Amino acid sequence: MTHVFHRDQRQAYPVAVRGEGCYIIDSDGRRYLDAAGGAAVSCLGHSDAEVIASIEAQLRRLPYAVTSFFTTEPAEELADLLASDAPPGLDKVWFALDGSEAVESALKLARQWAIETGQPQRREIISRRQSYHGNTLGALSAGGNAFRRAPYEPLLVPMHHVSPCYPYREQGAGESDGAYAERLARELEREIERLGAQSVLAFIAETVVGATLGSACAVPGYFRRVREVCDRYGALMILDEVMCGLGRTGHLHACLAEDVVPDLLCLAKGLGAGYQPIGAVLIHRKISDAVASGSGAFQHGHTFMGHAAGCAGALAVQTAIRNRGLVDSVRDRGRALEKRLRDRFGGHAHVGDIRGRGLFWTLELVRDRDTKKPFDPALGLQARVKAEAMLRGLTCYPMPGCVDGRRGDHVLLAPPYIITEHQLDELVDKLAPAIDAAIVSCN
Ligand SMILES: Cc1ncc(COP(=O)(O)O)c(C=O)c1O
Repeated sequence: MTHVFHRDQRQAYPVAVRGEGCYIIDSDGRRYLDAAGGAAVSCLGHSDAEVIASIEAQLRRLPYAVTSFFTTEPAEELADLLASDAPPGLDKVWFALDGSEAVESALKLARQWAIETGQPQRREIISRRQSYHGNTLGALSAGGNAFRRAPYEPLLVPMHHVSPCYPYREQGAGESDGAYAERLARELEREIERLGAQSVLAFIAETVVGATLGSACAVPGYFRRVREVCDRYGALMILDEVMCGLGRTGHLHACLAEDVVPDLLCLAKGLGAGYQPIGAVLIHRKISDAVASGSGAFQHGHTFMGHAAGCAGALAVQTAIRNRGLVDSVRDRGRALEKRLRDRFGGHAHVGDIRGRGLFWTLELVRDRDTKKPFDPALGLQARVKAEAMLRGLTCYPMPGCVDGRRGDHVLLAPPYIITEHQLDELVDKLAPAIDAAIVSCN
């Protein structure tokens, strides 16, 4: 009997005991190719000697010093590194422990910016349906996934949701990318005007939507139009790259591919790559200057933020990503993964869409390719895919609800940046029969 209150009380979990590159090994010696990188976290795999040595060395020097009394060398060096190649103007770094905390911090900092700049009436936050920004109450309020929100709805902060950019299901037949981007920008504009032009604080979006929509990339021009709308109404633009950031999409920051600079950029998973739990917000100087020349302090903080061993781990991970040319590897391997997915699943009767960028790819599963009709959610297809994949020694990231929070099944792939061509073959060779077995079990 376990005393751990596991996420799913009905499930018995294998005990993960060891990591070896792209593999996790359980207590029975079974090896799992980690095609999801946990939850798009483990970008360096599970046994990077340099990262582990850096954390060990920091632990021997100083594990922790509270940030209200001290700064530390690894925190300063990590912030220097992140600021050195951040999008222009994002030159301050706020540390958090995970993605939800990073998003909470960004939302609160946006609010404080409004106060510091004499705009206390700005309080409305607009996000998008089918987005995920974390599970703490503020981040969940921003998120737009109906299923994840439902039980907690009475506790959530009122926020507002517009359409996601989801070409597979929501771009009209014959509607150009430009026209689709324009339609969505107008919808945002109308929502801002409905709420009151001077009352909107921020728009928040995942640059490439992760868990709840499956590596859905915006059509070209969408984010530039969104940026224009935010600027016109004086609202901040917050991009959540907790999942898609730090190389995952083949760009150090996913917003670089969109040619926009946000005011606040949230990071987490690939920052510490699972070697340490750590998140961060990159802050535009217009916001940090407003605080510095105003009240002088961000009225927020957490006990473990800027943890010295955490920062040392993230510093080693980020140094490795840059020094080993891993963002380029993601592009290379990403093309190889895309080809394998298109070759293997392009003609599959139940794969409606293959989408993604870099090493961030998704198969959307459908009952009928022509009508895009999803499987009945009661069948739990995505859970079956997860189980069948694990039986075959593969972890992937299947999720329900991409259509409307309830209907729709997709399988997200986010393997380590160090995955080899041979391991990409293994990934597809295991995934294909897992999907087929799961679908057969639904019939
Ligand atoms: C885009 C995005 N934002 C925020 C979060 C929350 O991060 P965490 O689970 O580390 O709190 C996630 C987690 O999956 C995410 O994908």
